[in-house]
Amino acid sequence: MVQKKVKKASPAHRVQKEKPHTFVSEVPDRIRRLISSSLEIDEVLNLSMHLMEKTLGATASSILLYDAETNQLKFYLATGDKKDILKVIRMPSDQGVAGRSFQTKRTLLIPEACKSPFFYNKVDEKSKFITKNLIATPIEVKGKCIGVLEVLNKARGTFTPEDARSLKTISREISIAIENAQLYDEVKRAYMDSMLNMAKAEKYRDGDTGLHIERCGEYAYRLGPALGFSAKDLDSLKLSMMMHDIGKVAIPDAVLLKPAKLDPAEWEIMMRHTTLGGEILGRGAHMKNAVDIATCHHEKWDGSGYPQRLSGGQIPLSARLAAIIDVFDALSSKRPYKDPFPPEQVNAMLLEGAGKHFDPELLQLFISRIEEMREIYRTISAA
Ligand SMILES: [Fe+2]
Repeated sequence: MVQKKVKKASPAHRVQKEKPHTFVSEVPDRIRRLISSSLEIDEVLNLSMHLMEKTLGATASSILLYDAETNQLKFYLATGDKKDILKVIRMPSDQGVAGRSFQTKRTLLIPEACKSPFFYNKVDEKSKFITKNLIATPIEVKGKCIGVLEVLNKARGTFTPEDARSLKTISREISIAIENAQLYDEVKRAYMDSMLNMAKAEKYRDGDTGLHIERCGEYAYRLGPALGFSAKDLDSLKLSMMMHDIGKVAIPDAVLLKPAKLDPAEWEIMMRHTTLGGEILGRGAHMKNAVDIATCHHEKWDGSGYPQRLSGGQIPLSARLAAIIDVFDALSSKRPYKDPFPPEQVNAMLLEGAGKHFDPELLQLFISRIEEMREIYRTISAA
């Protein structure tokens, strides 16, 4: 419900009337272009919010999403200097201006927050933000309200009904971005899951219990932050590491399961599991780590590895990590042809590969965390 009526013929209104042009045609168009670009959803939403603030003259904005488990609205994204505090604040889904907008699926224009019967001042108390005026509009996906988009504190004066209508239009574009991202995530997750199942099946075929790939994923997950992987990329790094040998699904049993040493021709076939892995995983942007790891985990720092004989920094970081992880786990495990090596010997064998097989700096990091890695090994081992 837009509470404020449009005033006729005031000079201020004439100025306002020129702006909708910018809103209704250009801003949604620019948001649409952002959505169709290859940016991540959070980037699209952040850029959309900044664009929206600039055009509406707002000093802050936020996207609240509904959490069905707790029946609360939580701040998914917020701008302004209180954004970090806001991210941890939740509010009942039936309270405040946002709650009212969420429940009624109406756009609410609140010219003076302190006078509004719906205003929920606990968010301001917790965040130390002072809400003066705001507009809240529902975000709907397939007719279902999933959250609320807000703009707050107009830099000059207060928000107008025109602003409210524009925000409603922008909200529709943001809904599309969220819906697309949800669909994309579902497809990506389903794809990663099926690849992972294939990798697990391959390990069983190889006579492995599947624990090796579980551990490889976990080592990478723990070391990822020290390598600069952000929290949101860790799950993908873990899955990618678990799929490092997926190319072996395409290696004939006569080679993969041969109980004796491979001859040179067979070894050639075996080495193809790297490039085959990269091909199986595809070339999509979101699969970059998985492809890098599958293709390059047998490259060596000194250029003596395979398949491309890459060296040093030519080898992707995730693949350099995979090389260390894979060897550490193999040395620590019992195989049909060997017992596990004792911990000191594993250390010594890894260190022997510094600057030859392994990236020396990365190896240093791995060795500094080796007790934690051993703990992962013990935890994820057959009883
Ligand atoms: Fe391999």
